[in-house]
Amino acid sequence: MPMPENSLPSEEPSPYGGGVGASAPSRGVAADAADSAGTAKPPRRVRTLDLIKAKAEGRRWAMLTSYDQYTAAIFEQSGVEALLVGDSAANNVYGHETTLPVTVDELIPLARAVSKATSRALVVADLPFGSYEISDEQAVATAVRFMKEAEVHAIKLEGGVGVASRIRAITSAGIPVMAHIGFTPQAEHNLGGYKVQGRGDAAEALLADAHAVAEAGAFSVVMEMVPAELAAQVTAAVAIPTVGIGAGAGCDAQVLVWQDMAGLRPGKAPRFVKRYANLHSILSEAVGNYVAEVKSGEFPEPERNFE
Ligand code: KIV
Repeated sequence: MPMPENSLPSEEPSPYGGGVGASAPSRGVAADAADSAGTAKPPRRVRTLDLIKAKAEGRRWAMLTSYDQYTAAIFEQSGVEALLVGDSAANNVYGHETTLPVTVDELIPLARAVSKATSRALVVADLPFGSYEISDEQAVATAVRFMKEAEVHAIKLEGGVGVASRIRAITSAGIPVMAHIGFTPQAEHNLGGYKVQGRGDAAEALLADAHAVAEAGAFSVVMEMVPAELAAQVTAAVAIPTVGIGAGAGCDAQVLVWQDMAGLRPGKAPRFVKRYANLHSILSEAVGNYVAEVKSGEFPEPERNFE
């Protein structure tokens, strides 16, 4: 159920003006408010408070990963409320096998492209492995870089009880934090591979993680590969929105990696992925046609020539 239009609260324009969002046309993500004279106010960014309010009002919302300007603009125009510049760029942009090798310097330009290309969606950037583990100070310094250099609106980091002090430190610096519990890909070697988390006796620890990140000040929490029943229990137990990926329909929001959702990535997808398109075959066919026409001389046609 997408968040209906005109469902988010109005807000006064920034007294400081400026920005793409200040004059951009409506793209259906957040409400276009009307002033007392009935004149439509310009659309604005989705804010963390909107997402929290949506949970309180029982409205679900959608998040997708994005790592470039064109997908960011398309996803926002299609109604996606939050865009995640995930460290999954390691796999889906840079071609690594895990998320571990990607660096802050590699993610910042991608995050900047996504925030520059959008005016409505909340843009969240992942803190990559190695950029926040050492200390609260390191975590704040990395988060500040993403806010200043990429102009994102929030950061995400992985972990529960163990990263509560990081979340406290970053939010104390004025930066919204999305937490990520359950299966945390940066810890895949420690977790023994891609495994569902929170089964059996481990449920209690997962609940404790959810409470810890909420109490530390996270504005939402991703739950990855968690039994659906437990994820629904967590969702009912915390006031912040839960964002499921392999965690069932009982979460407040859902997230998928866009190349999985759109069928760009070939091969077997994880069970929780639903492919809404087959971009791999569409693009393969287009490129095959191009190659064939180049070889036959059909392309470029005379009308594409310059005098
Ligand atoms: O990096 C990423 O894409 C993520 C999502 C899968 C939640 O963390």
